[in-house]
Amino acid sequence: MSLRILLTTTSYQDTPGSHHDLLESGGFEIVRERGPLSEERMLELAGEFDGFLCGDDAITQAVIDKSLPRLRVISKYGIGLDKIDVKYATEKRLPVLFTPGVNHTTVAEHTFGLLLGLTKRVFSNGQEVRDGAWQAGWKKPIGNEIMGKTMGIIGLGRIGKEVAIRANAFGMKVIAYDPYFDGAFSYKHKVKRCANMDEVLHNSDVVSLHCFLDENTHGMINSAKIAEMRDNVVVLNCARGEIVNINDMAAALESGKVGGYGADVLDCEPPPADHVLLKAPNCIITSHIGSRTHESVNRQATRATNNLINFLKGDSDYIQSNKF
Ligand SMILES: NC(=O)c1ccc[n+]([C@@H]2O[C@H](COP(=O)([O-])OP(=O)(O)OC[C@H]3O[C@@H](n4cnc5c(N)ncnc54)[C@H](O)[C@@H]3O)[C@@H](O)[C@H]2O)c1
Repeated sequence: MSLRILLTTTSYQDTPGSHHDLLESGGFEIVRERGPLSEERMLELAGEFDGFLCGDDAITQAVIDKSLPRLRVISKYGIGLDKIDVKYATEKRLPVLFTPGVNHTTVAEHTFGLLLGLTKRVFSNGQEVRDGAWQAGWKKPIGNEIMGKTMGIIGLGRIGKEVAIRANAFGMKVIAYDPYFDGAFSYKHKVKRCANMDEVLHNSDVVSLHCFLDENTHGMINSAKIAEMRDNVVVLNCARGEIVNINDMAAALESGKVGGYGADVLDCEPPPADHVLLKAPNCIITSHIGSRTHESVNRQATRATNNLINFLKGDSDYIQSNKF
């Protein structure tokens, strides 16, 4: 009897590439769902699978309990594990595999898309022109250069480092905070080390968030922290929506304290029609597409599929996040 795999990630399923043939070569019975799935839906499905090839589905303690003993492995398509109860999976000795190092360049490029979209008014002016509102002369919107400005990075991990490299190329100064700071990288790429997050917030024209979501970073950017930032700061969030308090950010955009918020992620995805940031001024929200390029999806899907196949056939070439 072939092993049964639950495949939920839409990015994986909808993007053409060699990962589809690779998955077929595993000889599994594949059940396809359109994620990210709620805990309720996961509980309906749990118990019938040997492996999950998942995106940001709610894999809670209850889901894990119902999935065992049959479930042998969770292969996360991506690096953010905040929707999986990894601690409980570890307690149950259930391997959680993931895909670090495959989408950092793509997400860094997206970060600069958002930044230039805001500072050079590319997004708002492009929309005005489409709407027939081509302004002439002094009425044209005026943006800002990023050259010479300070890019402050919170979380100098894989993506944060790629952002630092690109910021240097734009002639920006780069400062960063990370509790596990890579001194060799910062020396090579002239990134000034900050002792804590507040030092970054005080000294940056652009604050770019690249830490993961956990109990320490949840709601970390709130009205008190925004008050510490420079006036007219641009905040970028290609990490996780929950890191930023959305009401505080909307108020700061309304007041002009924050000059722009560019985010690829929201606290609630997809957002309700009346989400406070959808109509906020100087705000660009993209629909969690930061890692969605043909190049990156193929790398990420190939890694996640190889993780799954190799683990199940006893080959040691897989990347596990929870060691036990
Ligand atoms: N928008 C997207 O499509 C997309 C795609 C990939 C990843 N992500 C998000 O980006 C995050 C970062 O990805 P990565 O590949 O760079 O991960 P990474 O693990 O390489 O880097 C994360 C860094 O954050 C640091 N960190 C942890 N807590 C911190 C804190 N309180 N303050 C400052 N730094 C802190 C860690 O030490 C680490 O160096 C992921 O966790 C995920 O949430 C989003």
